[in-house]
Amino acid sequence: MLDGNVKNSKYPIGYHITPLAGLLNDPNGLVKFEGIYHVFYQLNPTDTIHKNKHWGHIYSEDLITWHRAPIALAPDAWYDKDGVYSGSAIIIENQLHLYYTGNVIDEAGEKHSYQCLATSEDGFIFEKQGPIFEHPKGFTRHVRDPKVWYDEKEHCYYLIVGAQRENLTGTTLIYRSVDAKQWENLGDLVTNSDILSQIGYMWECPDLLFIDNQAVFIYSPQGIEAQGHQYHNIYQTVYALGEFNEGHLLLDDDMQEVDFGFEYYAPQSFYDGDRILSYGWMGITQPEFESSMPTIEEGWIHCLTIPRELTLDGNKLCQNPANEIYQLRNQEIQLLNGTQEIQSSMIELICEKEVQEDFNITIDDVFTLAYQADTHEITLIRKNWYTNENEYRKVTLNEPLQNFDWFIDGSVSELFVNSGRYVASARLFNSTYAHSKKIEMTSAQSFVKGYQLNAMNVH
Ligand code: FRU
Repeated sequence: MLDGNVKNSKYPIGYHITPLAGLLNDPNGLVKFEGIYHVFYQLNPTDTIHKNKHWGHIYSEDLITWHRAPIALAPDAWYDKDGVYSGSAIIIENQLHLYYTGNVIDEAGEKHSYQCLATSEDGFIFEKQGPIFEHPKGFTRHVRDPKVWYDEKEHCYYLIVGAQRENLTGTTLIYRSVDAKQWENLGDLVTNSDILSQIGYMWECPDLLFIDNQAVFIYSPQGIEAQGHQYHNIYQTVYALGEFNEGHLLLDDDMQEVDFGFEYYAPQSFYDGDRILSYGWMGITQPEFESSMPTIEEGWIHCLTIPRELTLDGNKLCQNPANEIYQLRNQEIQLLNGTQEIQSSMIELICEKEVQEDFNITIDDVFTLAYQADTHEITLIRKNWYTNENEYRKVTLNEPLQNFDWFIDGSVSELFVNSGRYVASARLFNSTYAHSKKIEMTSAQSFVKGYQLNAMNVH
């Protein structure tokens, strides 16, 4: 059995949330309730495949010291017996309300989904309340991932849910309620979705957040075609700004990737009283890559991102590590030109000044960050663990490279560029460097500094 830090793994992870065992996917029900951050997540506790979904549970007062809690929701009711799927949390009259999707396969083998509620007085023991409304007409069984919030201006609750129309196009439905009991279906959230250059066949995990009164819609559409450097993963997570009024969202045409890395999907945001934080699943990949991920032989797979604070800079969504993460800094690393091995699997590489030259930094022989100064192009080059071939993700910055903050946590890489205007998540696997990191750089040591990081405490 693995411990909470997956310490004994050949691919250790020290400061990202992992499952204790089994498969982890989407972050769910993120909330700060009575001073405690609760992070729930999709979990198959018994295997490393996408079946038997529960809500795993881990909590913290400070985002650094974590405690594992018993499974919060198990698939044990008639309306969720084949999976307690993703959803969100909201506090109503001092009770924690979890809205989620129940997945059911009936005797004829047909699948159904139910939008359900579970409530809790203490944030640890949940009472299931069952489905909250009928399945909408005109939609396939793919209706899931409710996100609920309270609208202070309009004095009502809103619930949005990802959906697939019977004509196999993706959308998000919106419901309104004054008491969080009776829900009225208002139809499509995005009323001008015809302006999107690509719609896809299903939108998963929709999330509408408001940053400085600006509506930001983040969703994970399936069925988007690659376009230039964007949308090269199997499924995407994108965002667009818009104007939200009385239940309807007019979206700007400019849809952009939230993360330009290899593994990122199904993020969820929440307001903790001070700031908007988000976690994503570092996550989705081709089935053959997933089923051959090296950690499977150890009985676990996947992790979440670190918590990211979301802000806007003009029309650009910025994601930066939550401040607490910087408490993990330990001793500074003396970076050398050429190759060196650091006796820690957890490191942070930082550049705080504008870079006018090309450079490459390679980690563990399998993952390279390359910058081309004349085009402002960042390329990530990874040796894929399944094909053994190099694969690439690229982004062209709108401005020169001004800074980066690169977090490496054993088999995890999370890169924040230009104050969070561009972010990339990825996994990297080389068991030779399980408890150390090999860094190769040419000239970059003159403008990059580094720290060894401590692990989070997980009890
Ligand atoms: C996204 C997703 C959700 C669903 C959950 C099931 O990764 O497919 O749409 O609720 O995962 O685990």
